[in-house]
Amino acid sequence: MTVTFTPVVLAAGQGTRMRSTMAKVLHPLAFEPLLGHVLRAAAAAGAETATLVLAPGMDQVAAFAKHSGLALQIAEQNPPLGTGHALQCAAPTLPLRGAVVVLFGDTPFVEPATIVDLVRALAAADAAVAVLGMELADAGAYGRLLTDGETLHAIVEAADADDAVRALGLANSGVMAFDAARLGELLAELPARTARDGNQEFYLTDTVALARAKGWRCVWRPCSEIEGLGINDRVQLAAAEAILQGRLRERAMRAGVTMLDPASVTLALDTRFGRDVVLEPQVLIGPGVTLEDGVRVRAFSHLMVDGPKETKPIVVRQGAVIGPFARLRSGADVGTDAHVGNFVELKNARLDAGAKANHLTYLGDCSVGAGSNVGAGTITCNYDGFGKYRTEIGAGVFVGSHATLVAPVTIGDGAIIGAGSWVGRDVPVDATHVARGVAEVRPGGAARLRRHLQRRAGKG
Ligand code: UD1
Ligand code: CA
Repeated sequence: MTVTFTPVVLAAGQGTRMRSTMAKVLHPLAFEPLLGHVLRAAAAAGAETATLVLAPGMDQVAAFAKHSGLALQIAEQNPPLGTGHALQCAAPTLPLRGAVVVLFGDTPFVEPATIVDLVRALAAADAAVAVLGMELADAGAYGRLLTDGETLHAIVEAADADDAVRALGLANSGVMAFDAARLGELLAELPARTARDGNQEFYLTDTVALARAKGWRCVWRPCSEIEGLGINDRVQLAAAEAILQGRLRERAMRAGVTMLDPASVTLALDTRFGRDVVLEPQVLIGPGVTLEDGVRVRAFSHLMVDGPKETKPIVVRQGAVIGPFARLRSGADVGTDAHVGNFVELKNARLDAGAKANHLTYLGDCSVGAGSNVGAGTITCNYDGFGKYRTEIGAGVFVGSHATLVAPVTIGDGAIIGAGSWVGRDVPVDATHVARGVAEVRPGGAARLRRHLQRRAGKG
């Protein structure tokens, strides 16, 4: 169920209320920039191209949007003089037929089906403008829709509204569809308004009254309060995150994931779950993570690719147990029934079936064969300050506690590494390897040493 239309995404606003050095639309929701959510909705509704309106210097936004999968045109708005001016700047990139749909980069929850519905309503009514409105208990700072049945007469900004209009609960979501053939004429005639800072400003919302004055039809369609949620500050950003996380958790639970304390679990949009996964409290899962059937992630575990350069996915295979307090980074691949315990960190590390690293260990750029046991406190020294090197541990290996594995190094199948050993040379299959200082034990030595130390300090 898609339609043909051209989206224009407005993102040139200063986003002053975020109080951020980063553009507002790059602030993430479930690890994905706000703008990404909007572009994805547009694509899912059927768009193949899009125009993105940006202010000068928003190069990071443009760079991010390039990966949207839509054929993107960038229109620069310099300086930004309001939402109407933003669409004026986009006009040269737009088709002269069909539907143009304006979406806001700061309104991430609009649903593809709602966009489709709006475009259909525009065509069905042969309207010049169609607007998504939401019924709110208190429409606050949103523009108000003046309607009569499905006909839309005008949109009045909250700042310009009298008490009677302010009391209306039908609010402008910001999503507006236009008949492309008539849009140019509307944009050309937008009145200049005087903004609070004294600058000229052009409201996109003024297109409705203009169209009505020409005798053109304008209609409105409903959307939910959440779909119209515009994010202007970090309080609204946090509220939106809570809404989205709630949805992601519900979807996961309905698909067979058990959560002991759902509200404390953070998920990504693309988290993939098998059946009977259990997530204990305070688990954070970033993008690119797959948890297969029967995996248990114990409390306070952090599964997150290092991105944006290190994006290798994280896979936890059937029946494996992670944590508590474990950290899986890019390229962690935990095999069937393997265990990764407390304060264990994996980066570019593969554990084969049944392998265990249960306590206080760093495994980086390494592989651990099936059934091997990596003792507490073992460290792979994968980085020498210049290059990174691999540690390959075979199957059925026993690595004693507190081993220091200096890469590049290979430990053959069935080898046994003594506790506390330094391993800087390859260890053959089934070999033992012990490399540590020789112990000197002197009976009575402690008493002699104490006397010596007392005398030296002048106390004996
Ligand atoms: C706007 C609407 C209001 C609606 C609300 C919904 C107007 C005049 N008002 O108000 O009726 O209820 O959205 O959230 O349209 N932008 C530009 N260039 C500009 C100004 C803004 O690209 O010069 C972009 C912003 O980046 C943002 C979007 O347009 O993505 C909306 O701008 P914002 O200033 O947040 O509008 P609101 O005051 O929220
Ligand atoms: Ca806004």
